[in-house]
Formats: sequence, C-alpha cells, structure tokens
Amino acid sequence: MIGLCPFHGEKTPSFNVSPGRNIFKCFGCGKGGDAVTFLKEHENMSFEDAIRWIASKYRLQLEEIELSAEDVKDRLLQDSLYLVNDFAADHFRKQMMETDYGKSVALYYCKQRGFLDESIEKFSIGWAADAGDALTKAAASAGYNVDLLKKLKLSTDTGRDFFRSRLMFPIQNLTGKFVGFAGRTLSNDKSVPKYVNSPESELYIKSKVLYGAFQAKKAIQQLDECIVVEGYSDVISLHQSGIENAVAPCGTALVEDHARIIKRLTRTGNIVFLFDGDAAGIAAATKNLKNVLSQDLNVKIVILPDAEDPDSYVRKHGAEAMRKYIAVHAQDFIFFKIAQQQKEIDRDPVSKVKLLRELIGLIALIPDQIRRSVYIRECSSRLDVSEQSLVSELNKLIYQDLSKKKQAADKSGSRAGQQSGDTGEEYFDESDFLTKPKKSVHETGKTFGSQLQEKDIVRILITAGERIYDESNSISIADYILGNIAEVIDDFDDKFYESVVKEYLQRQNTGEVTNFQYFIQHPDEKVRRLTVDLTTSPDEYSPNWEKRWQLPLQFQKMPEENFTLDTEQALKRFLLRRVGQICQKNHERIRELSSGDNMDELVIAMKAHQKYVELRNSIAKELGVVVLK
Ligand code: UTP
Ligand code: MN
Repeated sequence: MIGLCPFHGEKTPSFNVSPGRNIFKCFGCGKGGDAVTFLKEHENMSFEDAIRWIASKYRLQLEEIELSAEDVKDRLLQDSLYLVNDFAADHFRKQMMETDYGKSVALYYCKQRGFLDESIEKFSIGWAADAGDALTKAAASAGYNVDLLKKLKLSTDTGRDFFRSRLMFPIQNLTGKFVGFAGRTLSNDKSVPKYVNSPESELYIKSKVLYGAFQAKKAIQQLDECIVVEGYSDVISLHQSGIENAVAPCGTALVEDHARIIKRLTRTGNIVFLFDGDAAGIAAATKNLKNVLSQDLNVKIVILPDAEDPDSYVRKHGAEAMRKYIAVHAQDFIFFKIAQQQKEIDRDPVSKVKLLRELIGLIALIPDQIRRSVYIRECSSRLDVSEQSLVSELNKLIYQDLSKKKQAADKSGSRAGQQSGDTGEEYFDESDFLTKPKKSVHETGKTFGSQLQEKDIVRILITAGERIYDESNSISIADYILGNIAEVIDDFDDKFYESVVKEYLQRQNTGEVTNFQYFIQHPDEKVRRLTVDLTTSPDEYSPNWEKRWQLPLQFQKMPEENFTLDTEQALKRFLLRRVGQICQKNHERIRELSSGDNMDELVIAMKAHQKYVELRNSIAKELGVVVLK
C-alpha cells in the first residue's frame, strides 16, 4: 500500500506499507521499520508503551515477565505520581472553569490576552486558588496520599499548596503525561516572581522537558524544523496562530538534552531560535548556541524587533507575517555574533580577535567536519581573515579537546579513549577539504570490479602498515599484506590503488619511512585526499557493536586489539574477491571448452574449478560470508 508519508511533508506518495512483511518504508525520507518502530517514531512512544498500545488496540493478552518486588514498587510509585499530577491538572482546570473567582479573574485574564478556548483546552491551562491548601485538601479527600503530593512538590512539607493564586500551565512530556507545572502570577507587583515552576521531582527533570513538545511533535516532524521560543505564552500563541512547531524550555536555558530531543524529532536537525529583541533575548540565544552546535543541529537565529516577543508579535501581525519575518531574518550564528558586535569591531581591532576566538570555539563544538568547514569559510570571508589561520586555530582547539577527552577516558578506563583514536593524527586541512565539492576520491568509469576490496587493502597499508603484525618474526602489517598479494600486484582492477600499493612496496624495499604522516602529506593531492577519506567516516560505531556481533570495526580508527584482525579480514575479503573472479573466468572457459573437442584441457579446467571453488568456500567460511554464485 502506498500513501503520503506521515513523517515528512510530501505531495506525491512515497510511503509504502507491506502488510505481508509487516513493515513500512518511506522512499522519500528513508524512515522504515515494523509496527512497533512506527509507533515509537510517529507517536514518540517508548518500546514498552508501543507494545502496550498495540496490545490494547487489538485486545491481545500481554504476558509480562514478572518484575522484582523493587521494580513493582517503582512502577507503582511512578504510576501513582502521574495520577496525582493528573488530579492536580484537573483540579486547576476546574478551579478556573467552574468557580466564580476562577472564571471572573483567571479565565477573564486568559481571554483578555487572547487565549482561545481551544488553546486553554489544548494546553490544559488552569488556576491555583489562593486558599492555601485547596489542592492538598481536595487530593487528600479524593484518596490521594499527601506524601505523593509532597514528592511532586505540589504540597509543601507542612502540607500547604505550593502554587497559590497563579495561572497554571501544566508541563507535559513527549507522550502527553503531566510531569510538572508552571504558575504565572496575575499581579503586577514586581517583587513577586512572574513565573514559578515545580521544583524538580522524579517525574520532572527540567533539562529533559520542552514545553509544547507534545503538541508540537507532529508539526516538527512534518516541517523538519523546530522553533524554540523562551516563554509559555509564546508557545501557546504561536500554536494558536497555526505555527505549531514551537516549543520552549521551561524557565531554563536550552541544554544538550533538549537539543537531543529536537534532533530526534526533526529529520535533519533544523532548529530556529525565535527570541526577543531585548538584551535578555540576545543573551539567551548566545547561551543556548553551544548546546545545539555540539549536537550537530542546523541552527538559525531570529531576533524580533525590540520590545516584542513571539507572543505579542504574532498576535499583532498574524501567522503569515510571523513566518515571513522568520524567513527574512533567520541568520546563522556567525552572522548573528558578528552583527551583535559589529560596532565594537569597527572601533577596536582587539575585539575582532576576541570575537574570532569565540567563533572558533563555537565552531570547534560542531562534530561534523563538513559543517565546520562551511562555517570556517564564512568566518573567513565575513571577518576578512585567512581560512588557513582559522583552520590551524581550530585544529589546536580540537586537538586540545581530544586530548582532554582521552585523558578523561584513560582515567575512567573506558574504551572512549580508543574511540577518539590517536589524537596526534587528528588534524586535517579543512579548507582544502571544502573548497572543492566533495566527490568520490577518483573516477575510473568502472562500475564492476574489486575496487572496494582493493581500497580496503590500501586503507590497511596507510593506516596501519607500520604496525607489528607478528612480534616474534618482526613482521609488519605491510610485510604481511604485501607478501600475501605479491602475485597479483600488477593486476589490480583499480590502477590508482595499484599505484599506491606499488609505491608502498618500492619504499619498503628501499627502506624509506612510509607511514600515515607520509601519506597525509603526500605530494600527489589525489593520494592526500584518499588518505583523509580513509580515515574519516560519517558514521561512528557504538562501542558495544563489536562485543555484540563479534565483528571487527572497519572504518573507524582502529582500536589496538583490533588491527591485526582487521588486516586479516581485509586480506581475506581481497582474496575472496580475487578467487571469485578466477572462478568466474574459469567457468567461462569450461563452457567454451565443452563445445569443442579438447577433452584434456576441459578436464584440467574442471579440476581447477573444483579447487578454486573449495578455496573460495573455505575463505568465505572463515569470513562468515555466504557466496551467492
Ligand atoms: P517573560 O518575562 O518574557 O514572560 O519570560 P512571557 O513568557 O512573555 O510571559 P507573559 O507573556 O508575560 O505571560 C519568558 C520566560 O522566562 C521564564 C518563563 O519560562 C517565561 O515564559 N521565566 C520568566 C521564569 O521562569 N520565571 C520568571 O520569573 C520570569
Ligand atoms: Mn510575553
């Protein structure tokens, strides 16, 4: 079955569902999986919740593995905490909608500032009365344990209500459950804090909750963009106007955990900071920046005209104007930072240096190399400094950062140190990498051949050739590889790879040092590029991967204990491919011979064939590979 994809906006359907195989796959955005995955991704459910949801929808009996007494207690406690929050949210709603004071003061206030009924309902807005213990009492008489209210900080230790005389904005997690509350005072008294939030509790962890995310998640997925604002009222007004991909951190900065949630909800990580034009708004944008950069999000910053917030702007000018304003004023962070400090830079050259340092510090946080290069270039052109000096400054920072990480990892004895590899090899020329579009290392025009296996051999030589393969016979990895492929060294499918291997062999024979350093500084640009290409990968392996699947890591910088295994496997793949090709040729020859009358030749060829097939199968078996033909 084919339909419009619910994960990304599209006009021509590319979302396929195969009931027979029980899978879905969108050929537009690439999302795919089984029914459980669908619920997890589309509804942002946990695995457990998805299973429960399916079971209840189809009235299936769920067999749950018996939980330990401790687990049961935890689960029950969590469930009852949620129930208490449900009760509180409902209590606040009734206080606003069903009491005279609530209606004439709180509801009136909501209406006055333009919250429509549907928004009040959508965001479960309510009112906390001034009675001092209205909620605590109501909960107790409804049978709720006051200790639970205290745990959630809805009641103080002395049994009074935490929120009094405040307009209540319940805070929901991604699945819509109430985890905490924010209360706004309606008084103009400047000595009263405008907003008060629930203190953190077992359910409410500020760094992991985004206000409005539950209501916004569909729109965020569909638009592949998340708008981050500062305030509760901003979220509500934007949603109400039809801009439904807006969220806000709850009275805190946007931290890395928030950024991660946004990254998961969007496809390509587009995030827009839509902040007030006042000093506080600009400071907030700056503060949040480093957390989204380190999570590899595409951040754009939109600063509203002074004295406006998203709430006031969209109410005054409407959604269309708001969208247009965002489109016109969205700027990347380099431009944003420069614009903020333009006056000072013009006045004082020292401040330009300071700004550069700051910008490079931010760029260094970005994990993606290509993206770093783009920003380096922009920095260079906008501030009129050479790319090269920026790159070397950047490399210094990255190097420092890696050594720090390595030290930390070594201390904790984890594998993370190996993950970051030998930090001494971590530098590269970013500008060189990006001034030309990134394309495959070279084009041979061939689509069929052993290039992959040959490239793998080259990879091992360049990245690990110098290392010791066999200690007792002092054989290096390069010796081992070159010794094993000596016979076919003139017969590579790919002449470029062949030339690298030959160069290696020749230098080996004349006793010249041939290591990674040599290749990364190789006189031939093509070889330099290949070297970079071989040592960088868009993907990272989980440290658990190897343990779990007993497979060696292939493209990552190799962990110490792995490189011999990696070498052996690469060599086997290379040989397997070779033998496979010989098999095929021989097979063709047998076909030719069987239509002729040279019986002797035919018998030899058939015997050889049997040997080749045996050899092929035994290599394949060692590799755990299935040969298809
Ligand atoms: P603002 O003071 O800009 O409030 O604070 P606002 O969102 O525009 O609220 P309205 O329109 O007056 O109702 C922005 C955000 O900063 C946090 C809240 O999240 C608020 O929405 N804040 C502000 C607090 O947490 N505590 C405060 O005392 C003030
Ligand atoms: Mn406001």
